[in-house]
Amino acid sequence: MRPVSRIDWVISSCRLLAVIGDEFEQTRPFAGVSIGTGIHLEPKTVALLLVLARGGADVVSTGNLNSTQPEAVEYLRAHGVEVIGGPTADVEEHETYLRRVLAARPDLILDNGGDLFARWLEDPYPSLRGGTEETTSGRARLVPLRDRLALPILVINDSPIKQFAENEHAVGQSVLESFIRITNRSTNGKRVTVFGYGACGRGVAHNFRGARALVSVVEVDPVLRLQALLDGFAVPDRESAIAEADVIVTVTGAPGVIGATASELFGDGTILLNAGHLPWEIDVAGITAGNETTSATDGIETVTLADGRRIQILTGGHMVNLAGPRPLGNSVESMDLGFALQARCLEAVARGEVGAEACVVPVPRAIDEAVARAFVALA
Ligand SMILES: NC(=O)c1ccc[n+]([C@@H]2O[C@H](COP(=O)([O-])OP(=O)(O)OC[C@H]3O[C@@H](n4cnc5c(N)ncnc54)[C@H](O)[C@@H]3O)[C@@H](O)[C@H]2O)c1
Repeated sequence: MRPVSRIDWVISSCRLLAVIGDEFEQTRPFAGVSIGTGIHLEPKTVALLLVLARGGADVVSTGNLNSTQPEAVEYLRAHGVEVIGGPTADVEEHETYLRRVLAARPDLILDNGGDLFARWLEDPYPSLRGGTEETTSGRARLVPLRDRLALPILVINDSPIKQFAENEHAVGQSVLESFIRITNRSTNGKRVTVFGYGACGRGVAHNFRGARALVSVVEVDPVLRLQALLDGFAVPDRESAIAEADVIVTVTGAPGVIGATASELFGDGTILLNAGHLPWEIDVAGITAGNETTSATDGIETVTLADGRRIQILTGGHMVNLAGPRPLGNSVESMDLGFALQARCLEAVARGEVGAEACVVPVPRAIDEAVARAFVALA
């Protein structure tokens, strides 16, 4: 039997990207165009970057902090895609990788978290034509910079397709899957508190409830807090939610949601995990400072507080579905859809179909409709 690698399996499962790749090979929308990216290098992004290369792009890539998978790097290099650096959780090392991507002066940027566009502003070069931003966190970072960016930048996150297919359904599934895979604990009857009830938080809350946990939601937006209540979740105040939780999930995009001040509230054995983009939602340094910390098993740190209570932090507070042992990330189908949006948006920018007025704006409706039709046709 011929072995097939996980990356081959994922690529063959990305059916929409395969159709787009076949088309791009004929139409070559990126002929003579270079695309720079700093995105989680894992099997689904490999599928996307290879589709861009099939469309004629010279791709120069690096990963995001602490989510790069070595086999994805090897696969890309073996298929002629330039990858700068490798897996790292070191902020300064990662910084050098991002700067090397920009030093290649790519014509388009496929950004994830605003890392590349924000740095481009420090030393702008005129040949940059625009690009895409994948995430909520990146949009928040780039919106205040709109006047200075003044380039077409389409935000994939703000497509309704990305919102429901990935943020809600897929993040919810993969965070649940990651919790079970890393801890080997059950969810039945566990008191799980989810911080944040945006699309991702909704998915996380619903998936844990589907796995028979007792789920509560803490949300600072009063309207979304009401929505959580009407969806059937408990909406306790922050302090009692922390004190009563067996498991706390942060998925807000905001810094310091759970920090040292929460330490007096944690019950013994509370498990903390983060699904938000940046590893700052759980202030791991603040919680561990002055306390004995041990790493019992891959992806789990145990912190013993002064009075003997122990809490567990998963994957160092980095995105639990991308940073832990054997991380799978979001489902292939959700990423096939999201990356089809990426490919079509980059194509639109490369062809000059969107102008500088489209700076940090949602995916054009016509692209959403075309991607939705194409996916349904394959279903
Ligand atoms: N893990 C993944 O695979 C994955 C995938 C997509 C997005 N993300 C990330 O997940 C995060 C959330 O994404 P989203 O699309 O749901 O964002 P969102 O902005 O729609 O929702 C975040 C919610 O958190 C709430 N919030 C902010 N601070 C809070 C606090 N201190 N306490 C309680 N609630 C608070 C906000 O009011 C908001 O409703 C972002 O960082 C995003 O980049 C992760």
